[in-house]
Amino acid sequence: MLIRASLLRKSLQRLMKLPDGPRTPSLLQTLQLIARPTEFLDACQERYGDPFTLRVLGLNSPPVVFFSHPQAIQEIFSIPSSKLDFRKATHVFEPLMGERSLILQEGQKHQRQRHLMMPPFHGDRMRGYGRLICEITQQAIAPWSTGSSFSIQKVMPEITLQIILRVVFGMEPGPRYQQLEQLLSSLLEDVTTPFYSSLFFFPPLQRDLGAWSPWGQFLRRRAVIDSLIYAEIAERRSQDHESRTDILSMLMTARDENGQQMSDVELRDQLVSLLLLGYETTAAALTWAFYWIYSSPLVLEKLHSELDGLGDNPEPEAIAQLPYLSAVCSEILRVTPIALICTPRLTKEPLQLADYHLDTGTILIPCIYLAHRRAEVFPEPQQFMPERFLDRKFSPYEYLPFGGGYRGCIGTAFSMFEMKLVVATIMSNLHLALAQERAVRPVRRGITIVPSGGVPVVVTGQRAVSRFQPV
Ligand code: HEM
Repeated sequence: MLIRASLLRKSLQRLMKLPDGPRTPSLLQTLQLIARPTEFLDACQERYGDPFTLRVLGLNSPPVVFFSHPQAIQEIFSIPSSKLDFRKATHVFEPLMGERSLILQEGQKHQRQRHLMMPPFHGDRMRGYGRLICEITQQAIAPWSTGSSFSIQKVMPEITLQIILRVVFGMEPGPRYQQLEQLLSSLLEDVTTPFYSSLFFFPPLQRDLGAWSPWGQFLRRRAVIDSLIYAEIAERRSQDHESRTDILSMLMTARDENGQQMSDVELRDQLVSLLLLGYETTAAALTWAFYWIYSSPLVLEKLHSELDGLGDNPEPEAIAQLPYLSAVCSEILRVTPIALICTPRLTKEPLQLADYHLDTGTILIPCIYLAHRRAEVFPEPQQFMPERFLDRKFSPYEYLPFGGGYRGCIGTAFSMFEMKLVVATIMSNLHLALAQERAVRPVRRGITIVPSGGVPVVVTGQRAVSRFQPV
């Protein structure tokens, strides 16, 4: 009787309260989350269990509840969008991406834009970009001679930026392409530094005090980039873009259910958003890929033998379907997801979730990193074991490197395709070795988590046959 009463009291308490969490000042929690994100999340999970509550972003900030149980993640993904506010977290992107960006939309507007933007990233349309991805990679590695060494983290963004400019923007190398490439890579590099990125988090710093002030300089750089993008859109509008297959051309022809096409401003905002969300993320995933593959001799050997089985000049589609390569790429994004969390959601009304009664104004976080570390789903979760993806299928609430539900990443299929082709092209042309034996740890870089130290490698030989022929 006494036990039943105490159980009842406990579950009533659970229904009332927020999940437990650290009582330290919110500033300290914020700093821990920025400086040592994975260590801090692991420590909170171990101490408070799942879910737990953090206080971030200064005093009076709303409670931020982290969930990693698949059931809770499924429940969060199915909360209707009318009950959630996504802008609390995404508004920081507005100065860069523009107010029409997909990521800044909510409700029906969001649905309409997603509907317009999804098709180019799927099926035959996406597969059509395969040869170009292999060609860009091959050109990028052409100067890498035996004995040369470089940081993988430095070269991957060069490859992924070119892929975005040619495949998404549909640009051909030339003066405008080169200018845009140079301006974008320097802006995006700056955005990853703590000083520059703090401008976006603190609106009082967003004052144009002339070309030498940080915000004034940002606005001027953005204006030059925008003028190049608008010039490209205008040129393409004057040409026959109906027969082209790049993503910009497809977005130009797409119509919503009312027959409406995207305006130039909408196109600009979507292009910049795709660029910002798609280039650094895939570069980070590729950086982890080379770290994990070249620090695991058995995996390296199995991958080489699978790739060799394809023969010369294989179709990109055949590469993308290789089971072991697919398992390796999936496991890379499981063990070291480059986004630790899904887009935070602010509740607009009280919600019942995972036995908790959460008030209006609570931030819900489906935590990708912790979901991928659940030992009952992924035994020995710290270990890099691609075989787990050959042995079993995981639900979208257990394995979610790209988030999920109606806000999940629209570049999922595209970036997995790109990742496999870049890895296969490089491995088929060169022998590489890690230049440092040291273990790495996950560190924050802009919106992504990358390996510390930049993954320096050395070219130890050229493969006898260059198996991918340029188109
Ligand atoms: C390895 C590469 C990538 C990873 C790990 C990744 C991960 C993510 C994650 C975790 C989200 C949030 C999803 C959620 O809240 O449920 C997201 C959203 C998004 N991603 Fe990606 N992403 C990658 C590549 C790309 C690429 C290549 C593109 C496009 C070129 C892209 C475009 C987007 C867009 C537009 C959204 C916002 C979707 C919306 O709000 O409806 N991503 N991504």
